[in-house]
Amino acid sequence: MASLPPGPRMPRPAQTAAWVARPGPFMLRAHARYGDAFTVRIGTEPPWVMLAHPDAVREVFTGDPAKLHAGKANLILRPFLGHSSVLLLDGPRHLRQRKLMLPPFHGARMAGYRDLIAEIARDHVASWPRGEPLALAPRMQAITLEVVLRVIFGVRAGDRLDALRVRLRTMMERLMGGPSLLAMVAAGPERIERAGLYKPILKPVDALLYEQIRERRADPGDDVLSLLLAARTEDGEPMSDRELRDELVTLLVAGHETTATALSWTAERLVRTPGGWAALQDGGEEYAEAAGKEALRLRPVLPVVVRHLQEPMTIAGLDLPAGAVVAPSIFLVHRRPELYPEPARFRPERFLGDDPQGGTYTWIPFGGGVRRCLGAAFALLELRVVLAGLARALDAAAVEPAPEATRRRSITMVPARGAEVVLS
Ligand code: HEM
Repeated sequence: MASLPPGPRMPRPAQTAAWVARPGPFMLRAHARYGDAFTVRIGTEPPWVMLAHPDAVREVFTGDPAKLHAGKANLILRPFLGHSSVLLLDGPRHLRQRKLMLPPFHGARMAGYRDLIAEIARDHVASWPRGEPLALAPRMQAITLEVVLRVIFGVRAGDRLDALRVRLRTMMERLMGGPSLLAMVAAGPERIERAGLYKPILKPVDALLYEQIRERRADPGDDVLSLLLAARTEDGEPMSDRELRDELVTLLVAGHETTATALSWTAERLVRTPGGWAALQDGGEEYAEAAGKEALRLRPVLPVVVRHLQEPMTIAGLDLPAGAVVAPSIFLVHRRPELYPEPARFRPERFLGDDPQGGTYTWIPFGGGVRRCLGAAFALLELRVVLAGLARALDAAAVEPAPEATRRRSITMVPARGAEVVLS
């Protein structure tokens, strides 16, 4: 008999409110009370079975992707991302798009992106004000947006770069900030697509992206788009322009604010760790990466990933019914004291040395299995290069000694004051 493990008994609206407002404390309380697997009830979702043990997480990430669908959870983004987005597909169509997209994100490619990322970071940091409180988050967003535009889309300086920068910022603001996402959940993707609700925002963006695709096809460079244009399926098919457009928007939506948030949290934690910024200045890129990884452990940008069960499955010894959702809790796995002693402490040194912490299913800020973040190596490269560059140029101190609270921005968890610092 399939059944669900016990979980918080608060009514659904109260659980929803707790999840939306403060997912971390909500999960910690339920974990303390119910253990490594518990059921929560959120919004109009099917029951979510949260998993906090790395063995259970391994079962999910290595399980049959035909039974564990991930695309469904992102369907509300379809009016923006389009029908070919790798984020929204499951099964053979997902695998086809994912394989086409893997080559430019392979570790061996990262060296080729490094200099341009460093140049972008240097130019931005040089113009930041000194000696007064400033929020890093919007500035980190400006850096990671420029990285998407130039390193991923391969846009070179000129009118199209300026136009896309403005249009995409508007689009992201619409998607991430304010009530849009709730309205999208309520209406559902079909109705929004039929009504053409976001046409005025998307039409000019698409026109610019199709121009960019045509130009790179005629004159390829070292950017991600040029490699996507060269990608072929096993049958020798290239991606269509429509598919390319959808994947470019997907890379923007998946990679821009997430990386900016990880950068902001790393700075927020470092300036509140005695000797933290000095260690970053002495330790160069190696330390920068360790600090970024530790920030992703302690303040994961996405607190969970979810999979929708297409059939009954046994996970963590539990017989779960079809239709349920399993949710590996990134947040809870990262706070297990047997994996990370003194788990609440920010200590980049955990990720340095000969035997660093953070195994395949014990450090999961990028999810796992056939859905693992395609941009993980790219994001870590950005963390290394941007943080080390910033520390080389400037000293940084906290504006207020108290840690910044965690605030929700759409599905991501961001520092409440935007990672405020004073630079000198
Ligand atoms: C620190 C920054 C980032 C974090 C924390 C992050 C996290 C994640 C997570 C948790 C997933 C879902 C994994 C799962 O369901 O198992 C994901 C998927 C994905 N990410 Fe990232 N990501 C980051 C940066 C990026 C960047 C820079 C890119 C691209 C340039 C990117 C592209 C993608 C794509 C395309 C997927 C979908 C993969 C698939 O469904 O097959 N991400 N990311």
